[in-house]
Amino acid sequence: MSEDGVDRGKRRFLIALTTGVGTVGIVFAATPFVLSMNPSARARAAGAPVDVDISKLELGQMLVVAWRGKPVYIVNRTKAMLAQLSNNVSLLVDPYSKVKSQQPPYAENIYRARKPEILVVLGVCTHLGCAPSRAFTVGAASGLGANWPGGFFCHCHGSKYDMSGRVFKNVPAPLNLDVPPYMYLTDTLIRVGSDKKKGAA
Ligand code: FES
Repeated sequence: MSEDGVDRGKRRFLIALTTGVGTVGIVFAATPFVLSMNPSARARAAGAPVDVDISKLELGQMLVVAWRGKPVYIVNRTKAMLAQLSNNVSLLVDPYSKVKSQQPPYAENIYRARKPEILVVLGVCTHLGCAPSRAFTVGAASGLGANWPGGFFCHCHGSKYDMSGRVFKNVPAPLNLDVPPYMYLTDTLIRVGSDKKKGAA
Protein backbone atom coordinates (compact mmCIF):
# COMPACT_ATOMS: atom_id res chain seq x y z
CA MET A 1 0.00 0.00 0.00
CA SER A 2 1.25 3.47 -0.79
CA GLU A 3 1.52 6.24 1.77
CA ASP A 4 -1.64 7.86 0.48
CA GLY A 5 -3.73 4.88 1.44
CA VAL A 6 -4.37 3.61 -2.08
CA ASP A 7 -3.53 -0.04 -2.48
CA ARG A 8 -1.58 -0.75 -5.63
CA GLY A 9 -1.47 -4.47 -5.41
CA LYS A 10 -4.12 -7.04 -5.78
CA ARG A 11 -6.28 -7.29 -2.75
CA ARG A 12 -5.71 -10.30 -0.61
CA PHE A 13 -7.65 -11.41 2.33
CA LEU A 14 -5.94 -13.04 5.20
CA ILE A 15 -8.42 -14.91 7.23
CA ALA A 16 -7.53 -15.77 10.77
CA LEU A 17 -9.68 -18.31 12.46
CA THR A 18 -10.06 -18.05 16.17
CA THR A 19 -12.38 -19.75 18.59
CA GLY A 20 -14.13 -19.01 21.82
CA VAL A 21 -14.26 -15.25 21.46
CA GLY A 22 -17.53 -13.40 21.42
CA THR A 23 -16.66 -10.36 19.41
CA VAL A 24 -14.94 -9.98 16.11
CA GLY A 25 -11.25 -9.18 16.13
CA ILE A 26 -10.35 -5.93 14.47
CA VAL A 27 -7.52 -4.80 12.29
CA PHE A 28 -7.37 -1.15 11.63
CA ALA A 29 -7.01 1.05 8.67
CA ALA A 30 -3.71 1.12 6.91
CA THR A 31 -3.14 -2.56 6.55
CA PRO A 32 -4.84 -4.72 3.97
CA PHE A 33 -7.78 -6.60 5.10
CA VAL A 34 -7.04 -9.01 7.87
CA LEU A 35 -10.21 -10.71 8.75
CA SER A 36 -11.03 -12.41 11.96
CA MET A 37 -13.71 -15.01 12.05
CA ASN A 38 -15.24 -16.15 15.30
CA PRO A 39 -16.81 -17.66 17.28
CA SER A 40 -17.89 -20.06 14.61
CA ALA A 41 -16.48 -19.61 11.15
CA ARG A 42 -18.93 -22.11 9.79
CA ALA A 43 -21.91 -20.36 11.33
CA ARG A 44 -20.74 -17.08 9.90
CA ALA A 45 -20.18 -18.54 6.48
CA ALA A 46 -23.79 -19.66 6.64
CA GLY A 47 -24.85 -16.10 7.32
CA ALA A 48 -24.82 -15.71 11.08
CA PRO A 49 -24.56 -12.08 12.23
CA VAL A 50 -21.21 -10.71 13.34
CA ASP A 51 -20.80 -8.43 16.35
CA VAL A 52 -18.13 -5.79 15.89
CA ASP A 53 -16.58 -3.69 18.64
CA ILE A 54 -15.86 -0.23 17.20
CA SER A 55 -14.76 1.37 20.47
CA LYS A 56 -11.16 1.65 19.24
CA LEU A 57 -11.99 2.76 15.72
CA GLU A 58 -10.54 6.25 15.52
CA LEU A 59 -11.61 9.07 13.24
CA GLY A 60 -10.59 8.44 9.67
CA GLN A 61 -9.90 4.76 10.28
CA MET A 62 -11.45 1.75 8.61
CA LEU A 63 -11.74 -1.79 9.86
CA VAL A 64 -12.74 -4.86 7.93
CA VAL A 65 -14.66 -7.87 9.13
CA ALA A 66 -15.96 -10.90 7.29
CA TRP A 67 -19.65 -11.61 6.97
CA ARG A 68 -21.00 -14.38 4.76
CA GLY A 69 -17.50 -14.72 3.36
CA LYS A 70 -17.44 -11.13 2.17
CA PRO A 71 -15.51 -8.16 3.53
CA VAL A 72 -17.50 -5.51 5.35
CA TYR A 73 -15.88 -2.09 5.62
CA ILE A 74 -16.61 -0.01 8.70
CA VAL A 75 -15.32 3.56 8.58
CA ASN A 76 -15.34 6.24 11.26
CA ARG A 77 -15.75 9.28 9.03
CA THR A 78 -14.32 12.66 9.95
CA LYS A 79 -16.31 15.88 9.79
CA ALA A 80 -14.45 16.78 6.59
CA MET A 81 -15.41 13.46 5.00
CA LEU A 82 -19.06 14.00 5.93
CA ALA A 83 -19.05 17.59 4.67
CA GLN A 84 -17.72 16.47 1.30
CA LEU A 85 -20.62 14.10 0.69
CA SER A 86 -23.02 16.87 -0.30
CA ASN A 87 -20.52 18.24 -2.81
CA ASN A 88 -20.38 14.93 -4.69
CA VAL A 89 -24.06 14.74 -5.57
CA SER A 90 -23.89 15.86 -9.21
CA LEU A 91 -21.05 13.42 -9.88
CA LEU A 92 -22.86 10.32 -8.68
CA VAL A 93 -25.14 7.74 -10.29
CA ASP A 94 -27.47 7.35 -7.32
CA PRO A 95 -26.63 10.06 -4.78
CA TYR A 96 -29.73 9.60 -2.67
CA SER A 97 -29.72 5.80 -2.63
CA LYS A 98 -32.92 5.36 -4.62
CA VAL A 99 -32.00 1.87 -5.78
CA LYS A 100 -33.55 0.11 -2.86
CA SER A 101 -31.80 -3.19 -3.36
CA GLN A 102 -28.49 -1.57 -2.39
CA GLN A 103 -29.26 -0.71 1.21
CA PRO A 104 -31.86 -1.07 3.98
CA PRO A 105 -34.35 1.80 4.37
CA TYR A 106 -32.41 3.37 7.24
CA ALA A 107 -29.47 3.89 4.88
CA GLU A 108 -31.42 5.71 2.18
CA ASN A 109 -29.66 9.00 2.85
CA ILE A 110 -26.46 10.68 1.74
CA TYR A 111 -24.59 9.08 4.63
CA ARG A 112 -25.98 5.66 3.77
CA ALA A 113 -25.87 4.90 7.45
CA ARG A 114 -27.81 4.72 10.69
CA LYS A 115 -25.40 7.19 12.28
CA PRO A 116 -23.79 9.69 9.91
CA GLU A 117 -20.24 9.22 11.09
CA ILE A 118 -20.10 5.40 10.88
CA LEU A 119 -20.21 3.86 7.41
CA VAL A 120 -20.94 0.14 7.08
CA VAL A 121 -20.71 -1.22 3.52
CA LEU A 122 -19.79 -4.41 1.75
CA GLY A 123 -16.33 -4.20 0.24
CA VAL A 124 -17.50 -5.79 -2.98
CA CYS A 125 -17.40 -3.78 -6.20
CA THR A 126 -20.75 -3.80 -7.99
CA HIS A 127 -19.03 -4.31 -11.33
CA LEU A 128 -17.47 -7.75 -11.07
CA GLY A 129 -16.92 -8.18 -7.38
CA CYS A 130 -13.36 -7.09 -6.64
CA ALA A 131 -12.63 -5.46 -3.30
CA PRO A 132 -12.23 -1.69 -3.71
CA SER A 133 -9.30 -0.12 -1.90
CA ARG A 134 -9.61 2.67 0.56
CA ALA A 135 -8.62 5.95 -1.05
CA PHE A 136 -9.44 8.43 1.67
CA THR A 137 -6.76 10.99 0.83
CA VAL A 138 -8.25 13.85 -1.16
CA GLY A 139 -6.73 15.73 -4.09
CA ALA A 140 -3.62 15.08 -6.14
CA ALA A 141 -1.83 13.32 -3.31
CA SER A 142 -4.30 10.48 -3.74
CA GLY A 143 -2.94 9.59 -7.16
CA LEU A 144 -6.51 9.81 -8.44
CA GLY A 145 -6.44 13.38 -9.68
CA ALA A 146 -6.57 16.84 -8.18
CA ASN A 147 -10.34 16.71 -7.80
CA TRP A 148 -10.53 13.37 -6.05
CA PRO A 149 -12.87 13.90 -3.06
CA GLY A 150 -11.91 10.76 -1.16
CA GLY A 151 -13.58 7.37 -1.19
CA PHE A 152 -12.84 3.92 -2.55
CA PHE A 153 -11.11 2.87 -5.75
CA CYS A 154 -11.43 -0.49 -7.47
CA HIS A 155 -8.20 -1.43 -9.17
CA CYS A 156 -9.73 -4.16 -11.27
CA HIS A 157 -11.38 -1.85 -13.80
CA GLY A 158 -11.24 1.61 -12.26
CA SER A 159 -14.59 2.06 -10.57
CA LYS A 160 -14.77 4.81 -7.99
CA TYR A 161 -17.00 5.29 -4.96
CA ASP A 162 -17.25 8.16 -2.54
CA MET A 163 -17.00 8.07 1.25
CA SER A 164 -20.57 6.78 1.42
CA GLY A 165 -19.88 4.00 -1.06
CA ARG A 166 -21.85 5.82 -3.75
CA VAL A 167 -20.61 5.07 -7.24
CA PHE A 168 -19.37 7.86 -9.48
CA LYS A 169 -20.65 8.30 -13.02
CA ASN A 170 -18.67 7.05 -16.02
CA VAL A 171 -17.10 4.02 -14.37
CA PRO A 172 -17.84 0.33 -15.02
CA ALA A 173 -19.69 -0.27 -11.74
CA PRO A 174 -23.41 0.43 -12.10
CA LEU A 175 -24.50 0.62 -8.48
CA ASN A 176 -23.54 1.90 -5.08
CA LEU A 177 -21.81 -0.50 -2.71
CA ASP A 178 -24.27 -2.62 -0.76
CA VAL A 179 -25.06 -1.65 2.80
CA PRO A 180 -25.72 -4.85 4.75
CA PRO A 181 -28.38 -5.03 7.43
CA TYR A 182 -26.93 -3.92 10.73
CA MET A 183 -27.88 -2.47 14.08
CA TYR A 184 -26.28 -0.93 17.12
CA LEU A 185 -26.33 -3.16 20.19
CA THR A 186 -24.62 -0.35 22.12
CA ASP A 187 -22.95 2.88 21.02
CA THR A 188 -19.78 0.94 20.27
CA LEU A 189 -21.02 -2.51 19.34
CA ILE A 190 -22.48 -3.11 15.89
CA ARG A 191 -24.23 -6.28 14.80
CA VAL A 192 -23.63 -6.84 11.09
CA GLY A 193 -26.05 -9.17 9.34
CA SER A 194 -29.16 -8.44 11.37
CA ASP A 195 -31.21 -5.37 12.10
CA LYS A 196 -33.94 -6.97 14.13
CA LYS A 197 -34.07 -7.05 17.88
CA LYS A 198 -34.43 -10.50 19.41
CA GLY A 199 -38.07 -11.52 19.42
CA ALA A 200 -39.09 -8.87 16.91
CA ALA A 201 -40.88 -9.89 13.74
S1 FES B 1 -14.70 -5.24 -10.41
FE1 FES B 1 -14.45 -3.23 -9.70
S2 FES B 1 -14.26 -2.08 -11.48
FE2 FES B 1 -14.56 -4.09 -12.22
